[in-house]
Amino acid sequence: MTPPALHPQAHPHLQLVPADGGFAQDLHQALRQRPRAISPKYFYDAAGSALFERICELPEYYPTRTELALLRRHAPEIAALTGPGAQLVEYGAGSLRKVRLLLERLEVAHSFVPVDISGEHLLAACAALQAEQPALAIRPVVADFTRPHDLPARPAQGRRIGFFPGSSIGNFAPAEALDFLRMAAHELRGGALLIGVDLVKDPAVLHAAYNDAQGVTAAFNLNILERARRELGAQFDPAGFVHSAFYNAPLQRIEMHLQSTRRQTLQLEHRSYEFEAGETLHTENSHKFSVEGFQALAARAGFTAGPVWSDERDWFALLWLQAPSAA
Ligand code: AVJ
Repeated sequence: MTPPALHPQAHPHLQLVPADGGFAQDLHQALRQRPRAISPKYFYDAAGSALFERICELPEYYPTRTELALLRRHAPEIAALTGPGAQLVEYGAGSLRKVRLLLERLEVAHSFVPVDISGEHLLAACAALQAEQPALAIRPVVADFTRPHDLPARPAQGRRIGFFPGSSIGNFAPAEALDFLRMAAHELRGGALLIGVDLVKDPAVLHAAYNDAQGVTAAFNLNILERARRELGAQFDPAGFVHSAFYNAPLQRIEMHLQSTRRQTLQLEHRSYEFEAGETLHTENSHKFSVEGFQALAARAGFTAGPVWSDERDWFALLWLQAPSAA
């Protein structure tokens, strides 16, 4: 497998943080354990990132357009809370579409620090943003932000403000979400975190959002297996697996699985893994929250609840959380 074409010499400020075991090792581990489960971070190779962008445009997938509308509507207020000379740190930066709405409003930001695991995608997005905002200091960090990473120096004057949109925090189990929030509270001390969370709602609305009519979410889910074929030479019948997504009400989360339609064997490198008919590889959890529940979780990490912005239907919320003081 060829590593992404990163050219650190062309990006003097780029920080590259080595990832953990990698796809092959994690996939072996996922297939050995019961129930079988793998991290959703493996969705996001180039093909998966492109599929995710298509999901964001789907009529059934309301989170992206709802959050964009909230950001547009409240950007002036958010910019005022952020203050001048801030360093804006985006966790899991992706296409940078949402953060633009904030950056356009900020009074001379100190710098913008997008942190993302997908280096190629990130650097392309940074180049486009830089062309639009030539004066902005962009300091990309290619890293898995859930693992220890360094950030460029904090501003001497302004504050560090975190941005974690898209309800990406919903991918974490509650204990992991708390770990992330504790890390962010430390990293952002003296500043604040602006986070987007998907709210608990009618399960039919949730179900449709993860079972779109065009099958884009299915293709996104199945891309993990396609990726195993492309990158690792895994051998199996791709038609032997189907997309499965459902709302688990007691755990307040959408679960996505790849379900084997029959008994079959998957070959990965030197190992064979048996799937029973109906057996699944769990690929993603997408937790849903109440505003109060999320604020309580954030409080355990040291954040103080600030303003909350949500849409008319209360489907999605943006929360301002003040980080502990710098001390
Ligand atoms: C990027 C994790 C917020 O959970 O809704 C979209 C990913 N998975 N459709 C989500 C996703 C299936 C998305 N997050």
